[in-house]
Amino acid sequence: MLTSNDVRQKFIAFFESRGHKHLPSSSLVPEGDISVLFTTAGMQQFKPYYTAPENALRDFGSKNVVTVQKCVRTGDIDEVGDATHLTFFEMLGNFSFGGYGRTEAITYAHDFITKELGLDISYVTFYKGEGVVPRDDESRQIWEDLGVADIREDGKDVFWGPTGDNGPCGPTTEIYCKNADGQDVEIWNIVFNEYFCDGSREKLDAGVANLKKLDVLGIDTGMGLERLLTVANGFQSVYETNLFNNEKTKEERIFADHVKASVFIISDGMTPSNTGAGYVLRRLIRRAVRFAKQPLMEEADRFKKMYEGTYLLNDHAEIEKEEHKFRLTLEHGLKEFEKGVDPFILATTYGFPIELTLELAKEKGITIDLEDFNKKMAEHQKLSQTASAGMFKGGLANHEPKTIQLHTAHHLLLAALQEVLGRDVKQKGSNITEERLRIDFAFDRKMTDEEKKRVEDIVNQNIQAGLNVVRREMPREEAEKIGAEMEFGAKYPDMVSVYFIEDKEGNQISKEFCGGPHVSNTSELGHFKIQKEEASSQGVRRIKAILE
Ligand code: SER
Repeated sequence: MLTSNDVRQKFIAFFESRGHKHLPSSSLVPEGDISVLFTTAGMQQFKPYYTAPENALRDFGSKNVVTVQKCVRTGDIDEVGDATHLTFFEMLGNFSFGGYGRTEAITYAHDFITKELGLDISYVTFYKGEGVVPRDDESRQIWEDLGVADIREDGKDVFWGPTGDNGPCGPTTEIYCKNADGQDVEIWNIVFNEYFCDGSREKLDAGVANLKKLDVLGIDTGMGLERLLTVANGFQSVYETNLFNNEKTKEERIFADHVKASVFIISDGMTPSNTGAGYVLRRLIRRAVRFAKQPLMEEADRFKKMYEGTYLLNDHAEIEKEEHKFRLTLEHGLKEFEKGVDPFILATTYGFPIELTLELAKEKGITIDLEDFNKKMAEHQKLSQTASAGMFKGGLANHEPKTIQLHTAHHLLLAALQEVLGRDVKQKGSNITEERLRIDFAFDRKMTDEEKKRVEDIVNQNIQAGLNVVRREMPREEAEKIGAEMEFGAKYPDMVSVYFIEDKEGNQISKEFCGGPHVSNTSELGHFKIQKEEASSQGVRRIKAILE
């Protein structure tokens, strides 16, 4: 069997011997390009070189480079489970910034596939042309000269890029090989970066972005390692390769794919959250939980071993945390789903990503009113923003970092006061500036020095423990039921946000109705100190405290 190591090595050696410098994969979380969530292609780390090709020689000592790049693509997530689509995959790529053109790029690919690996090319494509971009007859001719019989003209699919908000892009030529089922699998995409687009791909397709011809033709190629291994071994699917464990059912495949992607994303420094790449990670883990027949960590460990020596995969305890969190609500949420509960409630209370609800609905033949969901979410977000802007009790008006830190310290302080003075200590008022926090709470006597010291110690221990601060949206009744702290006398809307501070085992140190914002981890707070404890009014004490 041809393994991933064999192919990576062959590919790198092939291009090294043709004047390419081998460079490492970049992170899955793109540096410097905030307009994309993940690295989706090998060319991404080289984007700036297509507009300034002269820098390649300076930076790499060569105009041509070769990489094996970790990629995550969620655009095809609904396809995952079939023979060829994955969210995480490795892309073998060769790139040139003024070093060579179409003839070399196509000939290298042809030779690697047919001579180095001894495979048959089923067919290739070339771009038919549109607008300012002419038909790519040159590529067609090169393929013909190489003796490829089946050459097909194609449209939008064979114009690639740009990634993100703008960037290099151009016509492509793709190579297809057959898998064991006789199905044509696209394995290699050779892009001729001849243009710079001043807008996103969506804008380009909508006719509201412009293409400007680049001074120098750039080469960007990408071949899916898992797909190549599939066809090279005469397999039917990517799951038969040594990068999987021969998963058979769609459920097993989705599970494996999503856990693998999560392990890699976490290793590159992401944690599950409610926005951006963190939210994609959360969705992947939650979807994996739904299809899981074993703990996610077991599968994660298997992948960690599988890639040993190729990639350094860090601790992925985040998976377990997220799995644990979601399992608690999954069962409950599924019941609510069966009862026909609103997708909006499922999302905000049970943490069901809308994609999950849609998927469940599809299985049951139920239709979901997505427009209604989106409307409610938009209103909800407005509400949360209003909350964040301090328009209802418990929100912070000032979003200075220092104020945000003091805000989180405020929650830790209330929890510590309850621990030392008793559960019935209730908040009566609060005020936070950039210098200090102030809390008023119901308690009928002066605190002793020893009590103050204990409260300080508890808060500082919780800071040192590096606890996660997590926000959850839920109906007010639900929040009341779980006993979240609320300020006496305050009016809260039907949907509220609750901030939880949890220890590593998922125990709740604090839960409060609150509009936020907060730091995401208590380790960001520094040292907590009580400055003053005094009477505020009859039966109400006041503490002023700072972070040093
Ligand atoms: N950028 C192209 C792709 O992602 C070729 O590498 O397919």
